[in-house]
Amino acid sequence: MKTNDLKNLILENSTIVENALKQYLPEKTSQLIDAMSYSVFAGGKRLRPFIVLETYKAFSGDVNPKRALPFACALEMIQTYSLIHDDLPCMDNDDYRRGKLTNHRVFGEANALLAGDALLTYAFEIIADNSFVSDKSVRLATKALAQCSGVLGMVGGQAIDLNGNFNSFDALKEMYALKTGALIKCAVLLGYYAYTDSPSSIVEKELECFALNLGVAFQIRDDVLDVISNSTSLGKPVGSDEKNGKITALTYFSPEQAQKEIEILTKASLDSLERCLDTKASVLIALSKYLIEREK
Ligand code: IPE
Ligand code: IPE
Ligand code: MG
Ligand code: MG
Ligand code: MG
Repeated sequence: MKTNDLKNLILENSTIVENALKQYLPEKTSQLIDAMSYSVFAGGKRLRPFIVLETYKAFSGDVNPKRALPFACALEMIQTYSLIHDDLPCMDNDDYRRGKLTNHRVFGEANALLAGDALLTYAFEIIADNSFVSDKSVRLATKALAQCSGVLGMVGGQAIDLNGNFNSFDALKEMYALKTGALIKCAVLLGYYAYTDSPSSIVEKELECFALNLGVAFQIRDDVLDVISNSTSLGKPVGSDEKNGKITALTYFSPEQAQKEIEILTKASLDSLERCLDTKASVLIALSKYLIEREK
């Protein structure tokens, strides 16, 4: 797939997701909903919903993603909540996100905390309400979302990151597989469960392997961008990691060496993908390659 076709598809999917999210978050009903909407509609890349929808489409051959759309929206709510909390003064203490002031800078810390909490719980309601798939699919998706978000997933990774003593790049990658890889893993699993409620454990394993390697590569690129990019194109501050004395991939490598690691991880991720999706993987392959040199 050509880069331009991929970009158009990203745009097309994000419009679909944007419209669906608008249905879930009505305008101007309470201060809490305003705070939730502020961050949800601040202009995220919608990468995880894209992966949900395209994984579903790849397996099913169905061009209409309606079975997977509620799952995609739920995951984007978790993603947005994770960013609201990540930016809080007690975490990374950042002022900009998605090109706008961070949630706590606009609504105050307590409201930002609650907006995150409310997005987290709302995500599970949306999953539970997906009437386009079987109850068994809903159960599989619920468990995946809980596991990938929680102590053995994103939150667990954030906790290890916070306490940060890593004596090796391998330990850092393990933490990245949790804090960032887990939600990407969730994206492929949700797409797969929208397609089938009788998943193959072999396919699940390959999908997980694809997503975790991609997620670690994605986080290393995030580390690189925090050093080499600028806040205008990123929509969030650069130098945040240095400010917080974070150990990142750049503790171990130069930006150029880190890029090499990203390529190695991406190569490993593509091997798993081809094993489970074969020729149907073209969109996800194009996405993975595109992410290696992403600018935002
Ligand atoms: C930011 O994720 C957090 C990381 C895991 C690096 P994204 O870069 O996907 O952020 P949004 O959702 O597009 O704002
Ligand atoms: C962690 O990484 C992101 C989450 C799991 C929420 P960062 O703290 O590096 O993410 P950014 O750079 O603020 O987006
Ligand atoms: Mg952080
Ligand atoms: Mg941060
Ligand atoms: Mg970062």
